Amino acid sequence: MNVLLTGGAGYIGSHTAVEIMRAGHGVVIADDLSNASEKVIERIEKLGGKKVYFYKIDVCDKAALDGVFALHDISAVVHFAGKKAVGESVAQPLMYYRNNLDATITLLEVMQKHSVNRLIFSSSATVYGIPKTVPVDENAPRGCNNPYGWTKYMSEQIMRDACEANKDLAVVLLRYFNPIGAHESGVIGEDPEGIPNNLMPFIAQVAVGRREMLGVFGDDYPTHDGTGVRDYIHVVDLAQGHVAALDYTENNSGALAVNLGTGRGYSVLDIVKTFERVNGIEIPYRIMPRRAGDAAVIYADSSLAKTLLNWEAKRDLEDMCRDTWNWQKNNPNGYRS
Ligand code: UFG
Repeated sequence: MNVLLTGGAGYIGSHTAVEIMRAGHGVVIADDLSNASEKVIERIEKLGGKKVYFYKIDVCDKAALDGVFALHDISAVVHFAGKKAVGESVAQPLMYYRNNLDATITLLEVMQKHSVNRLIFSSSATVYGIPKTVPVDENAPRGCNNPYGWTKYMSEQIMRDACEANKDLAVVLLRYFNPIGAHESGVIGEDPEGIPNNLMPFIAQVAVGRREMLGVFGDDYPTHDGTGVRDYIHVVDLAQGHVAALDYTENNSGALAVNLGTGRGYSVLDIVKTFERVNGIEIPYRIMPRRAGDAAVIYADSSLAKTLLNWEAKRDLEDMCRDTWNWQKNNPNGYRS
């Protein structure tokens, strides 16, 4: 079958495209390249072993999106397209709501017009806000502390309501924990614009000499070493979770929320030390104040994915650190290298 990936040129989208192709499907990508490079397309083709149909369009452009559905026999959609910087969303909330919710609604309308009833959504553990207990399962209370998070929360609700109205629609809301790492080949990986917001790309840029030192946001959390604990998941495991979710939508309908995590938590300093040991590179760091809105600890109960999707993460933290460095050292300036 042909699968449309909105935002398929981005970090998670590109890795997912490769895994979908390796599962035997055709891939069509719609991406406005606002936070991605066109160079990734030929690299996906190289790793996936066949042609990718690429359209440089904004998913909010209904006529353009409609044109893609008219040209290809699309059976399912994986919806990644959206803005994702927490701090930027606090500064420009209307832009985030306009863009991310418009993309979700426009996509659902065009899918409905073309009778496409299988959808995988790129949601986030951010919908759990600051959890009261860990591990977090899919029934944990939800609530966000920034507009970016609310756009994920609201998109989930819009998709649930669409499923209520159309009993043929199947949606899997994948709540990602902290995706890091890169394809084992080092050919594709994470390439953030400007100063990285997230931990691992920052570490990788320190390692390659683009930044002087890492700031560690707080060392007084109630954790084993005082730094924040997260559930880091290898991006290729995450990508394979999307293939499992696509399979699930073949014989099910309705909306299903599923965590994609490993079920293990590591601190910021665990990540720094593992990266140093696996790659033989020192990462200078200094302790900084806490970052507003950060939870002390969050990690997944990932059992539902195993039960319903027959998926679990296979790669460990050493794999994540090694593959991140393999990508970054081969592409010191990302896709501009
Ligand atoms: N951290 C640092 N220094 C940095 C960057 C991060 O110490 O330069 C720390 C953070 O304080 C946190 C941990 O590293 O303890 C992970 O931070 P990330 O920014 O990498 O990831 P978050 O858990 O904050 O964010 C992720 C996703 C968001 C999502 C959020 C909430 O990147 O999209 O989870 O689930 F909203």
